[in-house]
Amino acid sequence: MIELKGITKIYGTKKTATTALSGLNLSVRKGEIFGVIGHSGAGKSTLIRCINLLERPTEGEVWVGGVELTRLGKRELQQQRRKIGMIFQHFNLLSSATVYDNIAFPLTLIGTPKAAIAEKVNELLALVGLEEHRHKYPAQLSGGQKQRVGIARALASDPDVLLCDEATSALDPQTTDSILKLLLDINQRFQLTILLITHEMHVIQSICDRVAVIHEGGIVEQGPVTEVFLKPKHGVTREFIHRGAAGDEGIRLPSSVPPPAWSRLVKITFLGAKTYESVLSQVVRETGVNFAILQGTISTIKDTPYGQLTVSFEGDDDRVERTLSLLRERDLDVEVIES
Ligand SMILES: Nc1ncnc2c1ncn2[C@@H]1O[C@H](COP(=O)(O)OP(=O)(O)O)[C@@H](O)[C@H]1O
Ligand SMILES: [Mg+2]
Repeated sequence: MIELKGITKIYGTKKTATTALSGLNLSVRKGEIFGVIGHSGAGKSTLIRCINLLERPTEGEVWVGGVELTRLGKRELQQQRRKIGMIFQHFNLLSSATVYDNIAFPLTLIGTPKAAIAEKVNELLALVGLEEHRHKYPAQLSGGQKQRVGIARALASDPDVLLCDEATSALDPQTTDSILKLLLDINQRFQLTILLITHEMHVIQSICDRVAVIHEGGIVEQGPVTEVFLKPKHGVTREFIHRGAAGDEGIRLPSSVPPPAWSRLVKITFLGAKTYESVLSQVVRETGVNFAILQGTISTIKDTPYGQLTVSFEGDDDRVERTLSLLRERDLDVEVIES
């Protein structure tokens, strides 16, 4: 649905040149929610603005719905842009227009008949839950309500793609969750493809199917969220995960209680239905090793449950080895941290 090929973006002139993106490739499938995460200055906004050519890439191709946008003339580009909705961190609403008029704006702009506008806007007001606020002005709304107006406005021209530039970064955690839920709902109802950028792993974990990590203008890692989240490869990815959740760093056994010499520290990752199965207790009963749980998380990535346990196994080497291989046979991911 979205295909970026070899995108380079250089701001400024030769003397002051900043390379914001360098040779970046990205591919987003129809109907998925794709997240791009990166630190401030990594190139996220530039990336998302290149997709609707709010920024023109210095080099590279931008394909949306099978059309290469950088080659289009002004009129054709305007038409294609209607298929790409966008929402922003600071909402970008018209402060002197009501909620109704803000949502109607893109339709008014292209001369849609009044009755058709009314029908569409009413439908959208219901979708985002703002029917009672239609006559209010943005200043009279909460942050979450403003973003709902932004979402409704972005959907007014029935886009195929919705771009979200840090759409929840100005909101408190509870409001963030309600907006993420709304985005997920829209995605599922209309098979709308969503590309969102964020610096919060929580946003990715809640609603994204796949994720790419952007660093210094390039993608350093990407894949299904379950894979990237549970088996991060790049240092930047690990940083985001450990900052966002209770990570597995900082497991320090108290020095006054040194672990027995024969114990082995292991991280076990469960995914999907296995999260709720009693695999670990079945296996240790069979092998006769003892274990202590030092740290544990059970949570979900979008709708997939997962668990991560840091366990110390105590028993002779053979038994512990057998425990590890039985766990692996049962398709659990087992990583020895210390032996
Ligand atoms: N209009 C601009 N002119 C010059 N440099 C810019 C402009 N916009 C962004 N940059 C620079 O490009 C880099 C990437 O910025 P940006 O895409 O905004 O990153 P992010 O959204 O991840 O914080 C930064 O070094 C930033 O200073
Ligand atoms: Mg930005």
